Amino acid sequence: DKLAIGIDIGGTKIAAGVVDEDGRIVARLKRETPTTEAPAVIDAIAEITEEFRREHHITALGIGAAGFVDSTQSTVLFAPHLSWRNEPLRDSVARRTGLPVMVDNDANASGWAEWRFGAAQGEADLVLITLGTGIGGALVIDGQPYRGKFGIAGEFGHMQVVPDGRPCECGNHGCWEQYASGRVLTRRAKAAAADGTDFGKLMLADAGGDIERVEGSLVTRYADEGNAEAVEWIAEVGDWLGVGIANLAAALDPGMFVIGGGVSDAGALLIEPAKAAFSRTLTGRGYRAEARIVRAHLGPEAGLIGAADMARITARRRRPAN
Ligand code: BGC
Ligand code: NA
Ligand code: ZN
Repeated sequence: DKLAIGIDIGGTKIAAGVVDEDGRIVARLKRETPTTEAPAVIDAIAEITEEFRREHHITALGIGAAGFVDSTQSTVLFAPHLSWRNEPLRDSVARRTGLPVMVDNDANASGWAEWRFGAAQGEADLVLITLGTGIGGALVIDGQPYRGKFGIAGEFGHMQVVPDGRPCECGNHGCWEQYASGRVLTRRAKAAAADGTDFGKLMLADAGGDIERVEGSLVTRYADEGNAEAVEWIAEVGDWLGVGIANLAAALDPGMFVIGGGVSDAGALLIEPAKAAFSRTLTGRGYRAEARIVRAHLGPEAGLIGAADMARITARRRRPAN
């Protein structure tokens, strides 16, 4: 009963691991997927599973996907950054592998991992926010994942924070993730490169002159090295992050906010401005306890760790006792 496979389906990559009961990854595999069409992803998952099973006895398989997953944890209903619509992922993968399969939102999986094994151990009421391509969210309430009536709770990235604001991949305008995500930095970096600003030129040179390869992670690196413009851009993302967190505190009043995802690599350069904006905008400040705001501990592998752990727990519960 000890080992489960966890799989994180990202935009162009599948990251997979065999995870033990303590959340340790004992084997890993990565696959680039030529397309994000479901059949190609399912093939890749089946191959990865076969490979892992040559060396390990696997009892369950969990998948974290960057989209809305239904309340039975089987179907990806909608994914803003992928072409998936009503994709019955659980049954397809279960048929191919013969394993008990559970599907969850990628951020939900990360949140679960941080609570079980990471930054939020001991804090049973928490909100996780991941800043990647979009903003992902997860809720753990009283030590249990909270997914809402229809499975889709925690889609914080699509709270509308600016009326008629920037267009979002989800079809709406002004979503939070258009102001505080990795994509914001990428968009800004590409624009600076195209405009030929000094900072833009620096990043373009690093990307071998190819504007396609100018990414938000370059901004994080320059900020780390003390580049003032990069520091300012990260601080602006942090400011939007803090305002959103204050709103979430008004709605949910958790004990802790855990900040993960690629942009959180900026560390204090992101978190300090976020804390400042949180303090500035939190309602009832001075007359209420304040949630802690901390960085995630498990890094980019949180999603696969959490997916594996949830799948293992779910499979154990379903198996008839004998
Ligand atoms: C999606 C979420 C996902 C997040 C991070 C958002 O745009 O709506 O489902 O968790 O991006 O990948
Ligand atoms: Na979520
Ligand atoms: Zn949106």
